[in-house]
Amino acid sequence: MPAPSAPTAPGPEAGPTATGRLELRDVVKVFSNRGKDVHAVHGVSLDIAPGEFVTLLGPSGCGKTTTLRMIAGFEDATSGRVVLDGRNMVSLPPNKRPMSMVFQSYALFPHLSVRENIAYGLKLRRTGPEEIREQVEVALTSMNLNSLADRAPNELSGGQQQRVALARAMVTRPKVLLFDEPLSNLDAKLRVRMRLEIRRLQQRMGITSIYVTHDQAEAMTMSDRIVVMNAGRIEQVATPEEIYRRPASVFVADFIGRANFLAATARDVDGGRCSARVLGATIQAPCHEGVSSGSGATVIVRPESVRLSPSTGEGAGGAGGSELVGAHGRVLSSVFYGDHVEYEVETEAGTILCVESDPEPASVHAEGDDVMIGIEASRAWVLPEETADGE
Ligand SMILES: Nc1ncnc2c1ncn2[C@@H]1O[C@H](COP(=O)(O)OP(=O)(O)OP(=O)(O)O)[C@@H](O)[C@H]1O
Ligand SMILES: [Mg+2]
Repeated sequence: MPAPSAPTAPGPEAGPTATGRLELRDVVKVFSNRGKDVHAVHGVSLDIAPGEFVTLLGPSGCGKTTTLRMIAGFEDATSGRVVLDGRNMVSLPPNKRPMSMVFQSYALFPHLSVRENIAYGLKLRRTGPEEIREQVEVALTSMNLNSLADRAPNELSGGQQQRVALARAMVTRPKVLLFDEPLSNLDAKLRVRMRLEIRRLQQRMGITSIYVTHDQAEAMTMSDRIVVMNAGRIEQVATPEEIYRRPASVFVADFIGRANFLAATARDVDGGRCSARVLGATIQAPCHEGVSSGSGATVIVRPESVRLSPSTGEGAGGAGGSELVGAHGRVLSSVFYGDHVEYEVETEAGTILCVESDPEPASVHAEGDDVMIGIEASRAWVLPEETADGE
């Protein structure tokens, strides 16, 4: 059971002018488990700008929570530094770090009312009663909790409890807010609403935030930058758009969204572009800096960049720079979702996934149809072929 949200106990330099620049330098965590070492985090380095919203994203067990807990001070780093505004935090206990953490389990004090829960951190800081009253009112209003202020946590829904946890974390004006899967216990609709709410509040207050999730939709919609982690290491740090369009590895491309992976040989690498032969035709596409002429490559094509046309037709789309590629395929499955259709198409290069949004009813392909496959080459992305090094 995690400790309750760590109230801030800022030093004299904290306050409304606090900047909140966070640096992780070669942070390592090795757990010792019954004589066996578990390398949870393998030397993570990261620079987070004041007011930035950064998400740690990755599969279960990749070290997200451990990294967050080392930032908060709930876990000692085996080595490395956590530096906030030039000050090494590593030897400080959690309550001496100007940070607050919001947990999946809410971690509210069950015997305190909503109002008292929110006031708790301010009381610890010996804030005057008048100011506490004022700041708690502001927090209650900003989280839409006024009518619930006198209830106990067990008289609230999950979403309401999480709003209290958020108000409690923010009321002390920490330099850094830490979130560990705060929306996981909520239903799908509420999650969508809460992620907008958290983002809006965070932007309004300008607090540096680190958010842990394994939900890519959360990461994509909330973050200034996403840190994709895999087995204790950082795979890529970039904006959501870059992560999606220019993934640094097959792992990232596979973890974020869906993709077709086509083996090819890269040719004519020049100025961040190369040509590659896929699905029976040569395409020109943007490529990763690690791609070299004549070497093996993986062409990544998102399903929405694949176009299908009847194999008897004149060409695949043609609109939006779509390139006709020579391959024929047969529709294995065609699933209508209302706003889009998803196809699996059998080709010589394997099964290709295609998503067509807002389809014309007359042009929807049926299972068993023969089709031509087109790729929007400018939307494809070429990575160097990866040598298997295990996870
Ligand atoms: N106290 C501990 N003792 C030993 N090993 C631990 C301990 N805490 C975590 N680990 C191990 O460290 C690794 C990283 O765990 P961590 O909780 O950081 O993963 P996570 O990315 O947050 O995963 P999830 O998405 O499931 O929450 C895992 O292999 C885990 O088993
Ligand atoms: Mg975790």
